[in-house]
Amino acid sequence: MEPQYLIIHQQVAPFVAHVQLNRPKELNALNLELMGELRDALKLLDADDQVRAIVISGNEKAFAAGADIKQMADKTAIDMYNIDQFNTWDTIKKTKKPLIAAVSGFALGGGCELTMLCDMIVASETARFGQPEIKLGIMPGAGGTQRLTRAVGKALAMEMVLTGRFITAQEALSAGLINKIVPVELFLNEAIKLAAEIATMSPVAVKMAKEAVLKAFDATLDEGLHFERKNFYLLFASEDQKEGMQAFVEKRLPNFKGR
Ligand code: CAA
Repeated sequence: MEPQYLIIHQQVAPFVAHVQLNRPKELNALNLELMGELRDALKLLDADDQVRAIVISGNEKAFAAGADIKQMADKTAIDMYNIDQFNTWDTIKKTKKPLIAAVSGFALGGGCELTMLCDMIVASETARFGQPEIKLGIMPGAGGTQRLTRAVGKALAMEMVLTGRFITAQEALSAGLINKIVPVELFLNEAIKLAAEIATMSPVAVKMAKEAVLKAFDATLDEGLHFERKNFYLLFASEDQKEGMQAFVEKRLPNFKGR
């Protein structure tokens, strides 16, 4: 079934797919349906050999202005528990291929959290990041208190979470939240370019490297180092390692197959 709230663009560059959040009138507010579609789309793209990196964007005005407040407003705690909306996020977190957020305009609440669930963030000059949940009498629920704090440190995370203040792209870059800032007309192209560069690498090495970097967030240093070493050794079982090293020796470009 065609998604209602997403547009999926295949092969926007070799081996790169682009998923566009598409609820523009609501500033891409992340209702349950949109998040379900995103989960399903990423699952399919993750399994597709023709895709090696995935860009997620909104539009120029908004990446996403958060979870859908209107959908949540009258819910009880037990409704929230039963709906368990963040279950969807757990599946998205399992995506093995790199996810690059292309952000212009608002990335707020769940929108900011979604950019942080991605592996890298390319932002336009107009991007604004924030966790304004506190102004609604709630708090971030999709990783905001954890990923934001790890990314920007306690002082700024605490300020953003407790006051709801939005930060500019420049502040986000200085704080280490995002990878780069580009003029607004280029934000999507630059994100696709970054994805395309990664897509020229061995897909199996990329997936294992992503997995190892993410381990740094939920393992002790020793566990993380052990995990990294295991993946490093394991890559010597791949054809891509033989090809990559042979190509270096023969002074030519490698032809990676993901095997
Ligand atoms: N949920 C539902 N609808 C939303 C929305 C959201 N998060 N954000 C914007 N919209 C809707 C508005 O209600 C409005 O709809 P109508 O035209 O039907 O009135 C439309 O999108 C356009 O928005 P505005 O008129 O408000 O646009 P603006 O340019 O004046 O303001 C804004 C933009 C500052 C982003 C403002 O829309 C805003 O503050 N949005 C809410 C941001 C927010 O609080 N996000 C956190 C949500 S909770 C969360 O995300 C929990 C979590 O951890 C997962």
